[in-house]
Amino acid sequence: MAKDFALMEDSNRSSNPSIHEVSDPSRRIILRGGLGALAGGFLAPLSAVGGAAVLVGCATNHMASGPLMGFKSVAVSTADTITVPEGYTVQVIAPWGDPVGMSSHNHAFKEDASNTAAEQEAQLGMHHDGIHYYAQEGSKRGLLAMNHEYVDHGLLFTDGMANWSAEKVRKSQAAHGVSIIEVEDKAGKWEVVNPSRFARRITANTRTELSGPAAGHDMLKTAADPAGRVVLGTLNNCASGITPWGTYLTSEENFIFYFNGGDKLSDHERRWGLRKGGSGYRWHEHDARFDATKTPNEPNRFGWIVEIDPRNPNATPIKRTAMGRGAHEGATVAVTKDNRAVVYMGEDARFEYIYKFVSRDAIKPGGAAANAALLDHGTLYVAKFNSDGKGQWIALTHGQGPLNAANGFADQGEVLIKARQASDLLGATKMDRPEWIDIDKQGWVYATLTNNSNRGGDKQPGVDAANPRVNNTQGNIIRWKEDGDFHGATFAWNHFVLAGDPSLERSDAKGNIKGDMFSCPDGLWVDGRGLMWIQCDMSTSAMGKGDLKNFGNNMMLAADVNTGEVRRFMVGPAGCEVTGATETPDGKTMFINIQHPGEPANERSDPKNPRAVSNWPDKKPNGRPRSATVVIRKADGGVIGT
Ligand code: FEO
Ligand code: CA
Ligand code: CA
Ligand code: CA
Repeated sequence: MAKDFALMEDSNRSSNPSIHEVSDPSRRIILRGGLGALAGGFLAPLSAVGGAAVLVGCATNHMASGPLMGFKSVAVSTADTITVPEGYTVQVIAPWGDPVGMSSHNHAFKEDASNTAAEQEAQLGMHHDGIHYYAQEGSKRGLLAMNHEYVDHGLLFTDGMANWSAEKVRKSQAAHGVSIIEVEDKAGKWEVVNPSRFARRITANTRTELSGPAAGHDMLKTAADPAGRVVLGTLNNCASGITPWGTYLTSEENFIFYFNGGDKLSDHERRWGLRKGGSGYRWHEHDARFDATKTPNEPNRFGWIVEIDPRNPNATPIKRTAMGRGAHEGATVAVTKDNRAVVYMGEDARFEYIYKFVSRDAIKPGGAAANAALLDHGTLYVAKFNSDGKGQWIALTHGQGPLNAANGFADQGEVLIKARQASDLLGATKMDRPEWIDIDKQGWVYATLTNNSNRGGDKQPGVDAANPRVNNTQGNIIRWKEDGDFHGATFAWNHFVLAGDPSLERSDAKGNIKGDMFSCPDGLWVDGRGLMWIQCDMSTSAMGKGDLKNFGNNMMLAADVNTGEVRRFMVGPAGCEVTGATETPDGKTMFINIQHPGEPANERSDPKNPRAVSNWPDKKPNGRPRSATVVIRKADGGVIGT
């Protein structure tokens, strides 16, 4: 969720210094084509960061030769359909409400949204987001793990939020979380395998465990869980990550929107954005767990990175507290030369921070079982971007600097639970909503900063070198390279692109493409060949207005990081966000997620007319729009993007 779904969170009123002067931000914007000297180096083994670092997420085996991009750019569009380049095909699978393939219960989707809560618990959730393909049989059969970020109650129920009830809350909770489905390429068409022994739903009510330094902390104890170690569920699961040992990382983003606060909020509650009356989900009216006036510690049990073993349907999801608490957008893993895991995470809220976690121990051979405690021990850092193009990682370690009892941090557990307050004290850089993060073959780490219309001007904080735009409606992609290796304490940074930059348009008189415009980058993924994919999430409330008027529907573009060229690859259906991408090991099938097709400008569908904006993908006259996974292939069977 993006956007101003209920109220965009904006709770960082700390006075830690931003860099208030902008010496010359354009100095740090990569000139298009300025990296030509690196072109051709992208197929070599990664060597730029310390010589032997290994990138995960790039473990595919389709090292095709030739230029990274070979497709013809598509135009912007407002059509209620998926537009892809000539020579590409589109197939839709796994829409919200279809059965995931559990043999225990297996219910067809009802077009009028009358499925019960119990039925929804065995169906795909709503509002698909992060996704990853886990090969079971190469590029022919695998598991898809995917997030269901949030719900639109106007679509989820026949009569929307009328007659609000415990059953409706239960169904809303069941449409959240994660789905594991098995998919198979059957004679050129991908199908969900049903039944499948791997099929699984993890919802806002699934038993999960807390591990790491904050597990068992007083601030995580509740009457229902006096030990502070077992939480029911995960929610607002946004971007995703993968580990080299085969697990899935799902991040809990805007968890605070599900909680109701009281008249008198503590400083801690205020800093995390808790509001009296909640933010529109109304779960607290029938589930006291989400009423922080009754269960004040329950919000502390959300906002974690959750590790799931997709190949073991009986494995308990684990909330890894060592990586800190936040409105986490994602968790992207790199591996150091000495085989430690480094996890990059952004917190998507206005003026929040970028983090990295460095594991204490090396990754061991032996998969998930051998690395079950790897993410429980290590050091969490927050980023500070200096105005000279350098930056540093500052440790969130209890007893170091200001992180002591006198400042409200009794122990490391409290530092992690109150990671925002710790970062405030450490002087970290307040960013323009960090969303997805990924890493290219040269070791540059890219983060989308989607937008921040509250930046600067007559508002505080003002601009800084890393966040150089007043009223940043368009967003940026920032990137950095660590000094030495991924665990490095310092880095060099620049902007890969300021989105909406007119210099990206096709402006060459001979018709040569320089690049295609886009705005509000959110999803970001580097594929196995090193091609970077950018997915956009312009809020429907802002779409078509002011300087956002020429972009049409949300889209996906490819970027050649060697040349800086950006090319539009796909435009989504009306009212959607494009988010989440993954591929088969041969690079010939790409799965992406379309979230909230048909979302109206006020971001809440009218149950009396749920198809006012879109009825994608079913296109039934009485149907309703459904988030779904889109399978993209080349008609000639080639590698995607070529
Ligand atoms: Fe869930 Fe920040 O998008
Ligand atoms: Ca979203
Ligand atoms: Ca977004
Ligand atoms: Ca996002």
